[in-house]
Amino acid sequence: MIIFNSAQQLKIYLDNVKDQHYIVGFVPTMGALHRGHISLINAAKIQSDIVVCSIFVNPTQFNDLNDLQNYPRTFEADCKLLETAHCDILFIPEVSELYTFEELELKKEKIEDKSWTEGKTVDFGSLVEVMEGAHRPGHFNGVAQVVSKFFRIVEPNKAFFGQKDFQQLAVIRKMVKQLNMPIEIFACPIIRESNGLAMSSRNERLSAEERNLASIISKTLFEVKELQTTKTIVELKSFAEDQLKAEPKIELEYFEISDADSLQPITDYNQAATAVACVALKLGNVRLIDNIVLY
Ligand code: PAF
Repeated sequence: MIIFNSAQQLKIYLDNVKDQHYIVGFVPTMGALHRGHISLINAAKIQSDIVVCSIFVNPTQFNDLNDLQNYPRTFEADCKLLETAHCDILFIPEVSELYTFEELELKKEKIEDKSWTEGKTVDFGSLVEVMEGAHRPGHFNGVAQVVSKFFRIVEPNKAFFGQKDFQQLAVIRKMVKQLNMPIEIFACPIIRESNGLAMSSRNERLSAEERNLASIISKTLFEVKELQTTKTIVELKSFAEDQLKAEPKIELEYFEISDADSLQPITDYNQAATAVACVALKLGNVRLIDNIVLY
């Protein structure tokens, strides 16, 4: 695996690779890698000739400084995992390699500023007004900002994202479409721990007891999927909310059943061709999200 810190050096290397008509697959991450990330690398390996992974804890997508400071950083272990998964290239830029001082200052002042893509604006519309967008102001602008920067540096043919961040995938798809980027976006299935907990770098920060308790999240989602044949959408939502709120250590942020394309909440099955149930909650100090496609 070749490691690059410099965007320019990486670009020179990849330009050469592309001259040989190799398909470049890209897996952007924030590190603290687990089996979920490795499943993205594996998917990229199957679909591309050269796999580039990035590790960058992106400051502009955190709306909570504490969360940014506490985000797990496990670089040595990450490198070992990537080597074992036969990742070809690892890109680990410094903050100053990707952002100007002004961009970081702008983020501090105008958390919801929408004109971030170096001259080109993407209008995410109502997609970012619900769920994660509503609870983490500015989060998706930060995600789109950094992913668009990575896409301009790496210029991959294909990029791979986990379906756990369902709304993030929709935002990235919209960005790629609006900016006419010739990149195919792949959604990879959620990888779960043996108790059903969706794999996440944040799971590292759960105590053993919290990890056990957290199994109620996926249990609830699986039950909701099963119960859809006998309950209305409104009943399903209150069933899930009641079940999650009954656990005193859980602070529920939202449980939403939404159109899987627009991500707008629905109250009836015939309001969406495909629907997804999404949940966000706090368990102790750790914020967790999960989802399941219902139909
Ligand atoms: O999903 C993540 O880990 C991050 O949001 C991403 C896509 C790497 C952007 O920082």
